[in-house]
Amino acid sequence: DEWEIKYEEGKDYESLQRAAEELVNTDTPVAFPTETVYGLGADATRSSAVKAIFAAKGRPADNPLIVHFHSLPQLRALLSGRRESVDGIAEAGHDPIPEIYRPLIERFWPGPLTIILPAPANSTLAPEVTAGLTTFGARMPRSILALSLLRLCGRPLAAPSANASTRPSPTAAEHVFDDLHGRIHTIIDGGPCEVGVESTVVDGLSSPPSILRPGGIAVEQLRQCPGWENVAIGYKDKQEGGTNKPRAPGMKYRHYSPKAEVVLFEVGAEKPGVGEIRTRKSVGFIRTRNWTTALGHDVHGTKTMHPNGSTSNPAQATHIPECTPPRLSNLLRSVIQHQVPHAHQYTLKDGGTVVWDIDLGADTEGVARGLFSALRELDKKGVEVIYVEGIDDTNGDDIAAAVMNRLRKAAEIRT
Ligand code: TXA
Ligand code: MG
Repeated sequence: DEWEIKYEEGKDYESLQRAAEELVNTDTPVAFPTETVYGLGADATRSSAVKAIFAAKGRPADNPLIVHFHSLPQLRALLSGRRESVDGIAEAGHDPIPEIYRPLIERFWPGPLTIILPAPANSTLAPEVTAGLTTFGARMPRSILALSLLRLCGRPLAAPSANASTRPSPTAAEHVFDDLHGRIHTIIDGGPCEVGVESTVVDGLSSPPSILRPGGIAVEQLRQCPGWENVAIGYKDKQEGGTNKPRAPGMKYRHYSPKAEVVLFEVGAEKPGVGEIRTRKSVGFIRTRNWTTALGHDVHGTKTMHPNGSTSNPAQATHIPECTPPRLSNLLRSVIQHQVPHAHQYTLKDGGTVVWDIDLGADTEGVARGLFSALRELDKKGVEVIYVEGIDDTNGDDIAAAVMNRLRKAAEIRT
């Protein structure tokens, strides 16, 4: 599972290398793309660097971070208390990664899955990463830029999502800039993220194993792995009481919140009527499968806007535009093809309510990809309220559960 960065030297390579040097030599975190959302990274073995992540995000110190690795040897080295990774299994005959995770790692790494591991006693891990817990989250991302950065800096990177605390996670470099400019120096721009919701967090140390956060790997995909057939749902996002205790510590905080009020319509709920909308100056719609138009024929005027636009580049942060190492350019182009959805503007007849309308389409993966971007975009339009059409998350074979989990956290629930 070792590999080499082979692309030729060039501007983009130099940019990545500069970012890697910044991570090694300074305490200022660097924002970088992953396949899920943008991360705000720092050397996970250095307390001063990890503390700077919490400061930049305004994140409560008791909310632990995920540590990112480029390879299994690098993870094993950390688990065995060594600074450098070596080839092969760390100690002959003994793998420090618990066996329960083996089928998951084989199938989903690199990819949008975070596993909870015991924090080793002799670890080089900075204590701030685990926020006082005896465990930590580990993930190997599949974004080529993330892997390249990890490889170039040679340190495991602690990285939460690169949003300001409580805001929706960033799925484009512009989102990071909007939240963190003036607080960090470097954002590596890899275009819009491929998945759009964060990694699935699983705990295989408990029995039965459980899902602490739904994310980019669906529950049915996990259930197909030996030892994971009976994986428990360890998160809670429905409002009806229930005895399930929220297990991911992040859950007790306000989360994924745009400034506007979010009203989520669970599947089957009736969409808001024109009468209700007329009482507002401006509203946003995020439509998915069944709401074919925001308001039928009661509208005039249509203007198409580009949510992420080709708008201004960050002025203060060193923005690395479309960081494309030459040999990787095809791969990156396929990522960048995922464009963020457009917002259309309507004005309501008789009354003049301004409506901003975003259609995320019927495809779950497209909804996941566009969700955070849509929330942020409607916030920028200054709408009073965002009406969101929910999707069916009952069958577990796609990432609808992750989408609805984020929306329920962002919204008042209407069923
Ligand atoms: O996709 C992702 O996971 C992104 C990218 C950047 O990798 N990262 C991310 O990090 O979403 P963050 O900090 O926004 O969310 C980390 C989640 C939180 O819900 C936190 O509570 C949970 O992981 N977590 C971290 N360490 C944990 C631990 N030891 N036990 C239980 N949950 C943990
Ligand atoms: Mg986050």
